[in-house]
Amino acid sequence: MSDGTIITVIGAGTMGSGIAITAAISNVEVCQVDVSQDQLDRAKAYHKKTMARNVSKERMTQIEADAALARICYCTESCRSDESSFAIEAATENESLKKKIFASMVETYPADCILATNTSSISITSIADAVPAAADRVIGMHFFNPVPVMKLIEVIKSPATSQDTLERTMDLGESLGKTPIAANDHPGFVSNRVLMPLINEAFHAWNDGVAEPEAIDGIMKLGCAFPMGPLRLADLIGLDVCRDIMLVMHEGLGHPDKYAPCEKLVELVEAGRLGNKTHWGVYDYREAAKTA
Ligand SMILES: NC(=O)c1ccc[n+]([C@@H]2O[C@H](COP(=O)([O-])OP(=O)(O)OC[C@H]3O[C@@H](n4cnc5c(N)ncnc54)[C@H](O)[C@@H]3O)[C@@H](O)[C@H]2O)c1
Repeated sequence: MSDGTIITVIGAGTMGSGIAITAAISNVEVCQVDVSQDQLDRAKAYHKKTMARNVSKERMTQIEADAALARICYCTESCRSDESSFAIEAATENESLKKKIFASMVETYPADCILATNTSSISITSIADAVPAAADRVIGMHFFNPVPVMKLIEVIKSPATSQDTLERTMDLGESLGKTPIAANDHPGFVSNRVLMPLINEAFHAWNDGVAEPEAIDGIMKLGCAFPMGPLRLADLIGLDVCRDIMLVMHEGLGHPDKYAPCEKLVELVEAGRLGNKTHWGVYDYREAAKTA
């Protein structure tokens, strides 16, 4: 896309910074917004490092890398809201925070700007309900981590999302070099509805003494051709995130037991073993972290 598209990405954490650099590489101008200057500085450093790696691996020239970096500005308040055709919210996963951000997006961005959220578990319908006058422009744009690498965008429509919003979002996804696939708004969407019960069941298998984590992961990797086992993946995602998504489905889908988080998963979260981010989850990475 090189038609002067400008987007604002709200949130400069893991996902927002990944979305921003992916867009910049695809010739889109980006205003990267965060309430935290530290996070903006971290995002900028991550972008520079990513582009330096791309140049050293000869994926692009230094001139192209510099041009991509120059397409991003870093702001605590959007400086390009008037010109943005998309505002993609990738702030902390908290429903009331997201509803507040959306309420202010309606005030700030043009009347034809698409208001997208990268939420992994919050209902798009309930976010849209918070901004009734703009509900037709609200859509889920669920990117996957790491954004520059992962090809999928799960595009989530609420009943109020207009066809025009859906089509423009699919077009933007393709112009970012991704494969957008649309689904309806249900708890867990498609990706987590299918993945999280699998991860949860791996915790049940461990808890029931069927096998130890290494064996569970080994069996699923070799037997199902998974790139990594479900317990290792849970560590990568964050055990707290896995538990919270199970709770969203447990509350939203109405089966008394089917989506209840396994007690083993809950126990580890309560013990502060959250996975890679705390260097200890199912597996213990503390020694490796010291060495690193
Ligand atoms: N991490 C993942 O693997 C992953 C995958 C898919 C989707 N998601 C979703 O993406 C979103 C962001 O997740 P993340 O992992 O990047 O979180 P993160 O904690 O790394 O980043 C969140 C950022 O939002 C910022 N923020 C908080 N309030 C803000 C506000 N009012 N305005 C602007 N910025 C604000 C924070 O300062 C922080 O930098 C969440 O909705 C999450 O569910 C995460």
